[in-house]
Amino acid sequence: MYRTHTCGELRLQHKGTGVTLAGWVQRIRNLGGMTFIDLRDRYGITQLVINDSASAEIKDAASRLGREFVIQATGAVTERLSKNNKIPTGDVEITVTALHVLNAAETPPFTIEDESDGGEELRARFRYLDLRRNPLRRALELRHQMAREVRSYLDSQQFLEIETPFLIKSTPEGARDFVVPSRMNPGEFYALPQSPQTFKQLLMVSGYDRYFQIVRCFRDEDLRADRQPEFTQIDCEMAFVEREDVLRTFEGLAKHLFKTVLRKELTASFPRMSYADAMQYYGSDKPDIRFDMRIANLTGALKGKGFAVFDSAAYIGGICVEGGATYTRKQLDELTEWVKRPQIGAKGLAYVRLTAEGVKSSIDKFYTPDELQQAAAAFPAREGDLLLILSGDAKKTLDALGALRIEMGNRLGLRRNDVFAPLWVYDFPLLEWDGETQRFYAMHHPFTAPKPDDLDKFYTNDNALLAQVNANAYDFVLNGVEIGGGSIRIYDAKVQQRMFEVLGFSKEEAAYKFGFIINAFKYGAPPHGGIAFGFDRWCALFGGQETIRDYIAFPKNNAGRDVMLDAPSKIDGAQLKELQLMSGERSTSTEEG
Ligand code: AMO
Repeated sequence: MYRTHTCGELRLQHKGTGVTLAGWVQRIRNLGGMTFIDLRDRYGITQLVINDSASAEIKDAASRLGREFVIQATGAVTERLSKNNKIPTGDVEITVTALHVLNAAETPPFTIEDESDGGEELRARFRYLDLRRNPLRRALELRHQMAREVRSYLDSQQFLEIETPFLIKSTPEGARDFVVPSRMNPGEFYALPQSPQTFKQLLMVSGYDRYFQIVRCFRDEDLRADRQPEFTQIDCEMAFVEREDVLRTFEGLAKHLFKTVLRKELTASFPRMSYADAMQYYGSDKPDIRFDMRIANLTGALKGKGFAVFDSAAYIGGICVEGGATYTRKQLDELTEWVKRPQIGAKGLAYVRLTAEGVKSSIDKFYTPDELQQAAAAFPAREGDLLLILSGDAKKTLDALGALRIEMGNRLGLRRNDVFAPLWVYDFPLLEWDGETQRFYAMHHPFTAPKPDDLDKFYTNDNALLAQVNANAYDFVLNGVEIGGGSIRIYDAKVQQRMFEVLGFSKEEAAYKFGFIINAFKYGAPPHGGIAFGFDRWCALFGGQETIRDYIAFPKNNAGRDVMLDAPSKIDGAQLKELQLMSGERSTSTEEG
């Protein structure tokens, strides 16, 4: 037996017990003939002590130990003279009577401590060492707990966990596919699923009316802190449901996770907001409602008063920073620079300070104090507040105001990571027009049903009307992060055909790409709908982080690389030839070159 206990287990009550521990050497200290070793495993740290009376053999072994050596130590649990109240095992130590080195270790390239001295790139290359650190261990433990509770809740609601294939035909979710060449079918490719969307719908046709899967998805898209090329979804689908049934079921899942994982009891129903309101008041389809600071439309109040910048703008809007009237000129100049950054793209920033001495503003040459007070009433703002105003094209200005709102939330400490504000956003537009390719794209995906009230518009050929069609789609948003998205689906073959037509597919193209699902709908498809949650994002948020990378054991970097494996990498000529991706001669010369 390698060990009788873990390194996190022993307490004063074990005093006098003979134990054997195994783990990694975290730290060694020599103090006047005594050697103290911090022994670490997944469960904690226990202090080993080798005192003067230890055998020469033990002392010799101890003298040759280094950081991260794997050792086994046997001895009696003794009470520590100087206790360490920072760790749960801090009352005891093991007086070592036998010590075995199970494996030596080279000096690790960075310290295995909560705050490591290793840079990101170095830690990524030695991910298996980084994973020994507590913050990463805790992240993976949280992920495990989340997965267990997801399964437990969905199982209690009669959901079946069913696996679907990874080698499939392209499923359009708006990103590029990763493709896999088929050796047995030369010149042909599988695609890795961007999500199991079509499969889960086929399972509904098959009668498995409640399906879920914690499943890997693959998307070849530009990466960000909350995006990985392979990520995990909690993918769910239900038959014989309307939107309300889906929202109720998954609000239940969210509450269950809050309760079991975070010990937070959420009793009230989650707030809901239409997409139109989200855009209008928060400049975002995923509003962070931990704080208010809603956007107000000031076009009526400020346009047409002789200020050329505002007069030529299609839209003027602003946010009100409570208590912000004390902002200095320097702070305001700095904010102006911030909104002018290319990512935000505003041309300038107007401000109005509502002070006890009256209205002070960057635009008071053009507006009377009364006119500015009128604008302030739109929020409504009070004395002591600061209005920040942007103008221009409506969509771009709202986007910029949305970003400014989040920035101010950050600056004012209104986005605490231990406060959670869930939100459903619903009634997204069905279609998005793309000027470049001159066609509509599905805002969610092509299987999302138009709202029944908008069916007339859905069947016109008028692009302006088509753009107004709303989808029976919804997103689950937590603290300004899109955690999940789903919809009620089309289940009528003819409506599905029409959707492909609106998206610009010819009948033949639609049949080639999606014939299987259109056909399936001809054999008794039940009404159905579902949702998928970004599991990595949800874990990261519950862990209080914005980046999902640490919630994935072996993630990719921002360039989509696994720097530990050094993947992607070239494959040899013989393999290319076998896959018929390269002619025999060229592959030989590549091999030689
Ligand atoms: P959607 O594309 O909205 O919907 O994806 C669902 C959720 O998955 C997460 N997500 C990601 N997480 C990490 N890295 C990525 N690259 C990434 N892309 C998406 C987000 C998102 O909300 N089949 C539909 C769902 C449905 O209609 O049921 C779908 O995949 O949190």
